[in-house]
Amino acid sequence: MTHAAITGWGKCLPPAVLSNADLATFLDTTDEWITSRTGIRERRISHVPLGELAYVASRRALAAAALEPREVELIVFGTCSHDDQVPNMASGLQCRIGAEGCAAMDLNTACTSFLYGLSTATAMIRSGVVSNALVVGAELISPFMDWTDRNVAVLFGDGAAAVVLQATERPEGVLAELLGCSGESREILRVHGMGGAYVNKGRPYGEVSWQFEGQEIFRKAVHGMSHACEAALGKAKLEPPEIDLVVPHQANLRIIEAVAKRARVPMERVYVNVQRYGNMSSATVPVALCEALEGGRIRPGSLLLTPAFGGGLSYCAQVLRWGERTHPLGSSDAELPPCDRSALEIVRDVLEAKRRPA
Ligand code: UT7
Repeated sequence: MTHAAITGWGKCLPPAVLSNADLATFLDTTDEWITSRTGIRERRISHVPLGELAYVASRRALAAAALEPREVELIVFGTCSHDDQVPNMASGLQCRIGAEGCAAMDLNTACTSFLYGLSTATAMIRSGVVSNALVVGAELISPFMDWTDRNVAVLFGDGAAAVVLQATERPEGVLAELLGCSGESREILRVHGMGGAYVNKGRPYGEVSWQFEGQEIFRKAVHGMSHACEAALGKAKLEPPEIDLVVPHQANLRIIEAVAKRARVPMERVYVNVQRYGNMSSATVPVALCEALEGGRIRPGSLLLTPAFGGGLSYCAQVLRWGERTHPLGSSDAELPPCDRSALEIVRDVLEAKRRPA
């Protein structure tokens, strides 16, 4: 049977750091509140468009796999914060990296987009449609954030990461998964202003406000992720003690702790970086995968579990077996252009632009 091993990985975090103290300069909030309720201490704010973050992450992932861009057969670009809807983000990335002619699609299930993309690409490799794929999780939330709303502005950040999948006969990559969605709860997380529903309603595209029932999302997230973990482990015929590392979606430390407890996995076997990046939506899991590899937390043959949830409310969990190689085969010289503004200045510019009449 054909499987889809992860053979390359790369991340791109914009350099500008927005601390909790920075947020407290323009919102009625405190470092103590944010840290105790979410675990988040800082997040990154991008000075470049989404496509640029994804490009750098993708070049790094391809170099790590030693796969030439022209050999790429499929790009799945997971995001809910597109620079453009038409043409899609994947076609722009294809053009930019030089992967001429390959299949290229965007996939939006909010924070689970990367993992839904991982499962989609894995299925296409298993069924022989393609023999490799570049799967991206990238988000530029900051331009779509309502920076006047302390309920949401403290939670999110920008970032990107990508992985390369390649066909193998070894049982590696995604072994089993559960993908799901509680569509009946979709109204508890709605970003007003991102879509055709708002045309002719006197609201320019991107002029957003967030409908966000934090406590209800929290409950649904814990329930959806726990259910997905149990189902994915059941399909893989594995028990929680056999999992070497849980690499969960990073939205809130308390959600991660609750899911780990329900899954009966001690926090020592859970990778957490939410304190440094906040919720980067679909980018959280691939960025965490990259960092877990860099930090030696993923070893040859490691079994991983990746629970996640997002708007929709989508949820999923994958059981993955890592291959023999945990080091990159090569590196890329791709870099972001230098950033000459602080994160606070970038956020203030977004606020100013929204105050100016169109
Ligand atoms: O990928 C999907 C993304 N969504 C999520 O992950 C959200 C999941 N939910 C959560 O993470 C948590 O529910 C929150 C972090 C959003 C909120 O934590 P909580 O412990 O559920 O707080 P709460 O909703 O009970 O709010 C308590 C109080 C409220 O004040 P009152 O009404 O009790 O007077 C809020 O107005 O905290 C207030 N509050 C804040 N205070 C200071 C809300 N945001 C802030 C803030 N700073 N940033």
